[in-house]
Amino acid sequence: MKTDKSKFRILAIETSCDETAASVVEVSEKQVNILSNVIASQIDIHKQFGGVFPEKASRAHTEKIISVVDQAACLKVACADDIDLIAVTVGPGLIGSLLVGVNFAKTYAFVKNKPIIGINHWLGHMYSNWAKEPFPQFPALFLIVSGGHTGVVLMKSHTEIISLGQTLDDAAGEAFDKVAKLLELDYPGGPAISAEAEKFKIQNSEFRIKLPRPMIDSKDYNFSFSGLKTAVLNEVRKLQSQSITLNHYQSPMAHEFQQAVIDVLISKTIKAAYEFKPKSICICGGVSANKELRSQMQEAVSKLPWKASYHIPPFILSTDNAAMIGLAAAYQDKSKWTTFDKINADSSLKL
Ligand code: KG4
Ligand code: ZN
Repeated sequence: MKTDKSKFRILAIETSCDETAASVVEVSEKQVNILSNVIASQIDIHKQFGGVFPEKASRAHTEKIISVVDQAACLKVACADDIDLIAVTVGPGLIGSLLVGVNFAKTYAFVKNKPIIGINHWLGHMYSNWAKEPFPQFPALFLIVSGGHTGVVLMKSHTEIISLGQTLDDAAGEAFDKVAKLLELDYPGGPAISAEAEKFKIQNSEFRIKLPRPMIDSKDYNFSFSGLKTAVLNEVRKLQSQSITLNHYQSPMAHEFQQAVIDVLISKTIKAAYEFKPKSICICGGVSANKELRSQMQEAVSKLPWKASYHIPPFILSTDNAAMIGLAAAYQDKSKWTTFDKINADSSLKL
């Protein structure tokens, strides 16, 4: 089961939501190299619904999984035989989507008689910060901000991971997606809102909207974004009743909403930093692609009275991908390598 080679290759598979993804990473004593990183996005399928349509997501994964893994690992030719371990996202996520990747990975591990490891999707997002040096130093504080999860996590070592708080309702990315819909912007909402917010900055408009910063002063590290979405809805209704048209408030609202989310995310992260004094502060997950969040968090970290390094994943590894699953697998103890029959999908898996 265990390989004695000091260098080994991992085939990683990720299908937890709406990206079919596969990657091969090579692990040596000194480093982990990403050899391939293939992502088939389903954005065009879900755009018309303004969010992920679970049944269509699993169908699309089924259609794409073989060609995506083939592009990443050339299944039929020699390089596939260089694979020493299969890593697959086992949760959390949409069950129909997870099952496609998990069953493909299990079948491949069975047929090729290879070991397999199940990886938590959020852990994968955290390891996107190990794609390039300098790596985070322990203890490291993570803000995970994706479409399915928002939370603050303390990582004391590769094996000691403590969840400090999380969203009580919607995730930050989910709020971006829902507010984009209210503002008649495209799915996914994050990039669309970010672009509108940028327009507002450039236009330097006088039009001001004020939204709440939910739970910003709460003593814990939890979040709540569904009230913010309702606040946007109420503002939109008020503006409509005053016959103010969408083109007048779209950019100001996008800007204020984005800033409200960023203010809460930064405030909670910095509060946790003061309590746990991490050597590194990292952000990850789809919303970590947001340029304003990236730069404002950097500024907040630079103002801490001790020196903490700041880490962000490369843009391509912020949103869902399989390289991050391969990276997470590379840093797991080999005792976690197992056989195909021990791996199952769990849609509500915790960190
Ligand atoms: O991590 P991810 O790809 O999937 C989940 O694990 O959920 O995150 C997707 C989320 C979506 O909600 C999308 O709107 C958001 O990440 N997102 C962004 C940006 N790019 C993607 N949110 C804000 N700004 C962005 N630039
Ligand atoms: Zn994700």
